[in-house]
Amino acid sequence: MSLYGRVVRPTLFRVDPERAHEAAISAAAAAARGAHIAGPRPFSPPGAAREVMGIRFPNPVGLAAGFDKSARAVALWGALGFGFAEIGSVTALPQPGNEKPRVFRLTEDDALINRLGFNNDGAAVVAGRLARARRRAHRIPIGVNIGKSRAVPLAEAPADYSASLDRLWPHADYVAVNVSSPNTPGLRSLQDTDALDAILRRLLDLDAGKARAAPGGRRPMLVKLAPDLIDEQADEIVDLALDIGLAGLVISNTTIAREGLASSRAGEPGGVSGRPVRELSTAMIRRAAERARGRLAIIGVGGIFGPRDAVDKLDAGADLVQLYTGLIYRGPGLPRAIVAPLAAR
Ligand SMILES: Cc1cc2nc3c(=O)[nH]c(=O)nc-3n(C[C@H](O)[C@H](O)[C@H](O)COP(=O)(O)O)c2cc1C
Repeated sequence: MSLYGRVVRPTLFRVDPERAHEAAISAAAAAARGAHIAGPRPFSPPGAAREVMGIRFPNPVGLAAGFDKSARAVALWGALGFGFAEIGSVTALPQPGNEKPRVFRLTEDDALINRLGFNNDGAAVVAGRLARARRRAHRIPIGVNIGKSRAVPLAEAPADYSASLDRLWPHADYVAVNVSSPNTPGLRSLQDTDALDAILRRLLDLDAGKARAAPGGRRPMLVKLAPDLIDEQADEIVDLALDIGLAGLVISNTTIAREGLASSRAGEPGGVSGRPVRELSTAMIRRAAERARGRLAIIGVGGIFGPRDAVDKLDAGADLVQLYTGLIYRGPGLPRAIVAPLAAR
């Protein structure tokens, strides 16, 4: 077993999960401030790099949204071996999120339940941090994931998402639109095609306008989906994405399903991540990839704990993968441990 598994994890797992996470991010932020401005080179063994959505990724394994919601440790992710990182979800205004405790470990299930509710520092502060991080010489591609502010009614979602994109656009290599968190009331209803169409068209218009006036061209836009959608809903979203010219899909967010969980905490409200979403998300990736036939990029996420899990998602049709919960259970060596065998393949 690794040092992480023998020593670090048992110590971390004695602490409340959100406090352990906060301590890790604070340490990383401090280390990043002290680090040389250039930072380490991205981890890119021969055969690992790929080009997706017109972006060159040093390797296909990324940090999933939610780990660095407010861009506090951007320099760390490349140093850990990730090929890209998705910051956020960021909302237009800062917000505290739900009452604590709101993150739970389901150790028997290799899972977490969270109901954080988009706690983040808001688009203006995050934009400032990303602007500084972008000046580093060796940096990995950064996706920015935007969510709806809790205080804003669902009917005003297009304007709210667009206020976030307006601030964050210059600092994003790609944009992920999150309409699938279970922890903002009503958010997942924005996956209905009419609501989604209104939001995405508005964001694509904003993107096109900005791309005319600023360097860097258009930012590929993806929508992040819940693994609980029924097949027909997911199919409709694939068709919509193709119709309006989206770059791709992120599949998937956490699940509200609770089938087969062994942990005593399984009844906590929120979204389940980790092993229980692995097959749900892989099946959804496969179906979306078959329907899109190469016309959409797919970022596969959910329950990746090792190289085999990443290969399963890539074989199902994902172009890139991401992970969150695997990092908690397997430790900071995980990105490299996945990338190395993938590159050799
Ligand atoms: C504590 C926690 C917070 C998360 N926050 C976000 C978020 O803000 N936005 C988002 O799109 N996904 C968020 N996610 C979902 C992850 O990005 C990912 O889609 C999901 O956890 C499945 O991947 P995993 O099994 O590797 O964790 C969060 C997940 C966890 C565990």
